Amino acid sequence: MFIIYCFRRSNFVSSHDEPQYEFAMNVEQRIAELRELLHRHNHNYYIKNAPEITDFEFDALMRELQELEEKHPEYDDPNSPTRRVGSDLTKDFVQVAHKYPMLSLGNTYSKGEVADFYERVKRALNEDFEICCELKFDGTSISLTYENGRLVRAVTRGDGEKGDDVTANVKTIRSVPLVLSGEDYPAEFEIRGEVLMPWSVFEQLNSEREEQGEQLFANPRNAASGTLKLQDSSVVAKRRLDAYLYFMLGEELPADGHFENLQWASKWGFKVSDTTRKCTTLQEIYDFIDYFDTARKELPFATDGVVLKVNSLRQQRNLGYTSKSPRWAIAYKFQAEKAVTRLNEVTYQVGRTGVVTPVANLDPVQLSGTVVKRASLHNADIIEKLDLHIGDMVYVEKGGEIIPKITGVDVEARFLLGEKVRFITRCPACDAPLVRNEGEAAHFCPNEANCPPQIKGRIEHYVSREAMNIESIGPETVELLYNSGLINNIADLYRLEPSDLLLLPRMGTKSAENIVAGIRESLNVPFERVLFALGIRFVGATVAKRLARAFITIDNLMAAGIDELTAVDEIGERIAGSVVEFFSHEENSTLVQALKEAGISFVVADEVLEGKSDKLAGKSIVISGVFEKHSRDEYKEMIEKHGGKNVGSVSKSTSFILAGANMGPSKLEKAQKLGVAIVSEDEFLAML
Ligand code: IVH
Repeated sequence: MFIIYCFRRSNFVSSHDEPQYEFAMNVEQRIAELRELLHRHNHNYYIKNAPEITDFEFDALMRELQELEEKHPEYDDPNSPTRRVGSDLTKDFVQVAHKYPMLSLGNTYSKGEVADFYERVKRALNEDFEICCELKFDGTSISLTYENGRLVRAVTRGDGEKGDDVTANVKTIRSVPLVLSGEDYPAEFEIRGEVLMPWSVFEQLNSEREEQGEQLFANPRNAASGTLKLQDSSVVAKRRLDAYLYFMLGEELPADGHFENLQWASKWGFKVSDTTRKCTTLQEIYDFIDYFDTARKELPFATDGVVLKVNSLRQQRNLGYTSKSPRWAIAYKFQAEKAVTRLNEVTYQVGRTGVVTPVANLDPVQLSGTVVKRASLHNADIIEKLDLHIGDMVYVEKGGEIIPKITGVDVEARFLLGEKVRFITRCPACDAPLVRNEGEAAHFCPNEANCPPQIKGRIEHYVSREAMNIESIGPETVELLYNSGLINNIADLYRLEPSDLLLLPRMGTKSAENIVAGIRESLNVPFERVLFALGIRFVGATVAKRLARAFITIDNLMAAGIDELTAVDEIGERIAGSVVEFFSHEENSTLVQALKEAGISFVVADEVLEGKSDKLAGKSIVISGVFEKHSRDEYKEMIEKHGGKNVGSVSKSTSFILAGANMGPSKLEKAQKLGVAIVSEDEFLAML
């Protein structure tokens, strides 16, 4: 496949090194062909797990399509594979009424109630029936509408009657087909399923959030639903969500069986679990439950039970619904996994931002396939609520959470009462009295200038890949350098000479030179990343970029007050407060000064700045429609470069709408009602 593509491209290569298409028709054909190819390879990769081309080849096809689409907006298609990268436009979600209400399922934890369900169905139907047993995916539900084989809408469950239209976000999920395969799908139907965040993605996301001092997601379910509700679909695209479909609705479905309909869905390109089984006896149902109560621990995503559904749609209709849930289905929930073990000690960890986390040290115990020795106790309130004593036999659970937690004490097993666990009052590392802010659960050590784990944590963050990317230094080297007294803050790194390092244990000339070379190289890191590397609370990589672009230099940023900071798109009070607080500490301004002297860049580079003005200062601008001369992202960048603000929805404070072809009808109507000006692409460019 790829060979043909190469041949075609090189066949039409011009002196400009761009593929040329002989006739206008070729462009349209090539776009259609690329879309078809990309949809197919996407399906091979994300659903069949059997890629036929390399990532590099896939990216090349995608790039070619992106370029063609940009040059030829007349062939625009909202379901093009290029739409999966998401747009960085912010938008409020529109609420949409569900055509069929999204009901929930009756829940049970007991096999006895499964037997009751089975008997009820048997009595009511009084004929043979099959029960479809499937996994209960632990994510967030979604309803997808397809018309003529194309995804037209994706809506969350909401209150069951109406939900949020999250189509743009769902389009970034690679396992959701934008265009169906084959031809035998109904002209219109809905398919429902669960949006999931696989364990591996969840763990990576949480460790990034921890690095940036952001709050962690408790479990993949919260992470999936939080991600689906993000306003910026380009961030959603990066989170690598997945989706399994488990329920089809419509007037003209291909079969009477629920299972069979899903087999059809799989042929059209949907991701359908291959773990589903049809059972005819209660024993078969129990076997399915027992098997997956163990096997689910090996699955790459979270499940919290099994769903049992009467297979025939005719029989489902006969059984009907109660006001809340169908009579033809029930969910059996797995018990959260629990173990009992002894609490030996509570120790305390100090993070880079000074937050002190209590950790329970336990007798090792087997739980969900791993040996647990430590569990998080989160904060002082939780310790108090559990009334913990050293030596207590405690319940440890993993549930949907990745870090095991202590959920209770087996009071009966208390035979001698150990010492009561009381949250420490001084920092375990530097002995400073701990502080707890009004309304916050966490205690923190305020001695940021001298508390060793905070200092080391900040240096580790500074050298990390996403920050200054000083590859020659990892956490162990930071520990060595700090313990030997060679460095006490990030600016000290730039004073190191190879000869200083040679004094360290196990350090050879080559490694010493390597480390210093890595540090020197970091002088080329752009200001946006330097700002992130400083480790200001709540200033992650994206926020740092925004702040750097808005203020251009560190001096401007340091001089900014809360009002100026919150005037920047996406910067709220919490971030603004944290920035002001950071620079109000003298040691931080001294640090910035020392880094400046070392040659670190604290100004946004000229390339980024080129063409900047304040021609649009104070203007709120909505972008809508399809453009010919620049992409939406380019227009967004232009607005920001010229001091304007790009907003998602039209309101009376909107200055004007930058409108391309096919502007959204609801935006147009609102603009006319509010008297907001509509500016064409050419008029806008002339303005600048
Ligand atoms: S069927 C009317 N099947 O569980 C029946 N739901 O408590 C519609 N869920 O909101 C749902 N896995 O988010 C069904 N295999 C599965 C499921 C499943 C997870 C979720 C779904 C639903 C909730 C019901």
